[in-house]
Amino acid sequence: MHELPRWRHLVFHWNLTSFLISKRSPKSQDPYVCSLLCSCNLWNISQQLPLLDCRFLEGYREQRLAHLVLGAITMGYVWQEGETQPRGVLPRTLAIPFVEVSRALGLPPILVHSDLVLTNWTKRNPKGNLETIISLPGGKSLRGFVLVTVLVEKAAAPGVKALVQGVEAIVQSSQDALLQALQQLRLSIQDITRTLGQMHDYVDPDIFYAAIRIFLSGWKDNPAMPTGLIYEGVSTEPLWYSGGSAAQSSVLHAFDEFLGIRHCKESADFLHRMRDYMPPSHKAFIEDIRSAPALRGRVLACGPGPCLTAYNQCLQALAELRRYHITVVARYLVTAAARARSRSQGDLLRPPKALEDRGTGGTPVLSFLKSVREATLDAIICPRA
Ligand code: HEM
Repeated sequence: MHELPRWRHLVFHWNLTSFLISKRSPKSQDPYVCSLLCSCNLWNISQQLPLLDCRFLEGYREQRLAHLVLGAITMGYVWQEGETQPRGVLPRTLAIPFVEVSRALGLPPILVHSDLVLTNWTKRNPKGNLETIISLPGGKSLRGFVLVTVLVEKAAAPGVKALVQGVEAIVQSSQDALLQALQQLRLSIQDITRTLGQMHDYVDPDIFYAAIRIFLSGWKDNPAMPTGLIYEGVSTEPLWYSGGSAAQSSVLHAFDEFLGIRHCKESADFLHRMRDYMPPSHKAFIEDIRSAPALRGRVLACGPGPCLTAYNQCLQALAELRRYHITVVARYLVTAAARARSRSQGDLLRPPKALEDRGTGGTPVLSFLKSVREATLDAIICPRA
């Protein structure tokens, strides 16, 4: 049978609503991990765990839930006593099932964006109020951080759909359909920016900086764990993995590929590495968008007109989203770090220092984020060019 071109799979396999796990997760809202962490009891408990067998997990959704739970326990185990005493060895009762379920899912054995956000939500009541499934220290701010990011992923759903419609429109040479797809993409990007603003309503910058961030940190590019982490019973050599970051969300990767944005080598290398922290089907979606007939070439070929204007408006909206994200990062990291430095030694909210000028993904934050925004602006096509 004639094989379909790669982009065709987009239309058949990605009749999607968003990257979020779509149906309601099991009723397992569980403050247990959080309370173990807060009571600093996780080291003892983890030693006593029975060896869990992942073969008992039924299907993909249970595997994703297991990855979330084991990921959260692992972060707690490593960082429970703060950055000065991270654990260098993950006990086999955690390491073996975590690596097993990670292999089954094609994910690395560390808490990733698809765990903390995409899997970690449920509806508290029939009205649809959201709740997290697994909690980490940080109380209401942790909850707000996760759930606002869930809402951002939801706001991105029409944009992701628009990519599929845009590719179809290019293939069918339908200018009207392409224009519609671009307009829908711009509206979705603007909605993401508005939704991101809710971070300020629900997340306290000092709590984020001092209490939450460390539990998202990894053991790669992190001076607090230069020797990585040994997964006992799996490997005698240490392994290195980056911490959880929304840079692992597939949304902006897919938008960038569709719009033909080219990042500088250093930023592109980091972003490409983050794709290995996404569920393989999400990574494949981004690759499918990349290999689809190119939007940018089509817009350039059409010349000045409504499609070019709509294309540029998408880029402007995306650059604005990235500008706004930088202001969020400045408030939650840069300003919070300065405040933390000026606090007295005895203060309970004494934050970790190792990642002071780095993101949880390990980047030198501001220069990276600015370069990514610049590349977005550089892609704007001057109508007379
Ligand atoms: C308190 C809130 C947030 C903070 C402090 C924050 C911080 C950061 C940092 C430090 C980076 C650099 C990569 C790293 O080292 O981790 C980053 C990248 C990124 N963040 Fe956020 N972030 C926040 C919320 C969000 C949300 C809600 C989203 C939406 C899904 C998001 C999307 C991204 C993306 C896509 C990147 C990669 C750079 C890009 O493509 O523009 N962030 N973030």
